[in-house]
Amino acid sequence: MRQAGCALLIFIAAAEPNSESMVQIMKFQLPDLPFAMDALEPHMSAETLKLHHGKHHKAYVDKLNKAIEGTPYAKMPLEEIIRGSFKKDPGVFNNAGQHWNHSFFWQCLKTDGGAPRGELGRRISKDFGDLAGFRKEFSKAAEGLFGSGWTWLVLDGDKLKITTTPNGETPMLNKQHALLTLDVWEHAYYVDYRNERPKFITAFLDSLINWDFVAQRLQEESQEVESGGKRRAG
Ligand code: FE2
Repeated sequence: MRQAGCALLIFIAAAEPNSESMVQIMKFQLPDLPFAMDALEPHMSAETLKLHHGKHHKAYVDKLNKAIEGTPYAKMPLEEIIRGSFKKDPGVFNNAGQHWNHSFFWQCLKTDGGAPRGELGRRISKDFGDLAGFRKEFSKAAEGLFGSGWTWLVLDGDKLKITTTPNGETPMLNKQHALLTLDVWEHAYYVDYRNERPKFITAFLDSLINWDFVAQRLQEESQEVESGGKRRAG
């Protein structure tokens, strides 16, 4: 099976052999959502998810497969494609980045997803003062992002930071480790919130974060940092 470098994102690249080649070339596939289509209502509607996952994310996957066909990228894991095509092949990069970002985003979502506890709670207090400090900084970044892009909680060295990326860019390009993201492209919220991005951001912070996933990422990415990047290839 063709895999992305991140263990949590193995599902990003499910296997589909290309019978026309002696070399087994895999195509990327749209991952299933890790929840029912209506599981996030009323904060994120089934209509939004049908469009966002079934149309927008699917289009990125389809365009990525078309863009890499017959190129050296066709044999690379997703994260290697992202790093290799950045500022070189925008048609490949934009769709590869958006495939990674959306696959990660779906895992960040859950209704009644708890609260940051344990090590994650301690690190949020250490780097943002408290949970309110985290929320304030995250909201400010998400509201202030001009145009289309993503807001992230990342592990940067031994610090938690809030950052944003434009369009399909990802924190890995800055050697940062993604822990949580919010898609603030208009297609993520227009059906449910029209042009009111702040309401979408508040709903996300109040009701849609899968904190267990964030805690798991912090644990795994901290180990990755401590190992100097040796635990994971790609
Ligand atoms: Fe999106």
